[in-house]
Amino acid sequence: MRRRIVAGNWKMNGSKDLVQQLVGPVREQAGRLDNGAKVVIIPPALYVSAVQAEAGDDLATGVQNVSQWQSGAYTGEVSADMARDMGCGYVLVGHSERRQLFGETDETVAAKVEQVLQSGLTAVLCVGETLEQREAGDAERVVATQVIRGLARVEGESWSQVVVAYEPVWAIGTGRTATAEDAQAMHAEIRNVLSSMKAPAESISVLYGGSVKADNAAALFSEPDIDGGLIGGASLKADEFISICRAFP
Ligand code: G3P
Repeated sequence: MRRRIVAGNWKMNGSKDLVQQLVGPVREQAGRLDNGAKVVIIPPALYVSAVQAEAGDDLATGVQNVSQWQSGAYTGEVSADMARDMGCGYVLVGHSERRQLFGETDETVAAKVEQVLQSGLTAVLCVGETLEQREAGDAERVVATQVIRGLARVEGESWSQVVVAYEPVWAIGTGRTATAEDAQAMHAEIRNVLSSMKAPAESISVLYGGSVKADNAAALFSEPDIDGGLIGGASLKADEFISICRAFP
């Protein structure tokens, strides 16, 4: 069975107080669930150690971005090796906000994925279309291109370190969630694309992100090709995030 994953992407939110208030209850109530879900907390990098101190071995941690270079004179950057050194297991790569606000291209995303895999961590490749692209009937083509180009440097055993997160840009932070049917259709298409790349498509977790809430997670997670979620706003609220972690059939 593919790994079930629920990851909380805090984005540029949070504080030491939030870590103290949220991580303990999430650990106690979602740390070792019968549904087998891996729960990952992905705070701003400055807070990773504080989260780990509260999370123990029951929750995994990650970072929201790493450099496409391994080390050197790149002021302000953090590397995949540093994330591993600090005990992280997961790295978000190519989030739409990185692409839109920081000019990340499919090529820099592919380079970052390579750095993450070489460090032994799991890369969560974020893909998704804009509303304009969907309304133009281009959603599948756009997402397929992002998957192919973002994972262009993956081969062999490294596929076991790849997770894909489908996050339609128009659903992020808007409260406008994709329907379970539409999300399932795109997840199935992503799996077809992975197969065309000779990847072990049936064993790669594909997560949905974009306004996942306690009241819609069960419908999403009951779809055959949706293996969990990448959660933004709702991951900052302990009770709601715990409900989402428990929402698998
Ligand atoms: O990476 C997850 C994020 O983009 C989704 O945000 O607030 O719509 O759950 P949100």
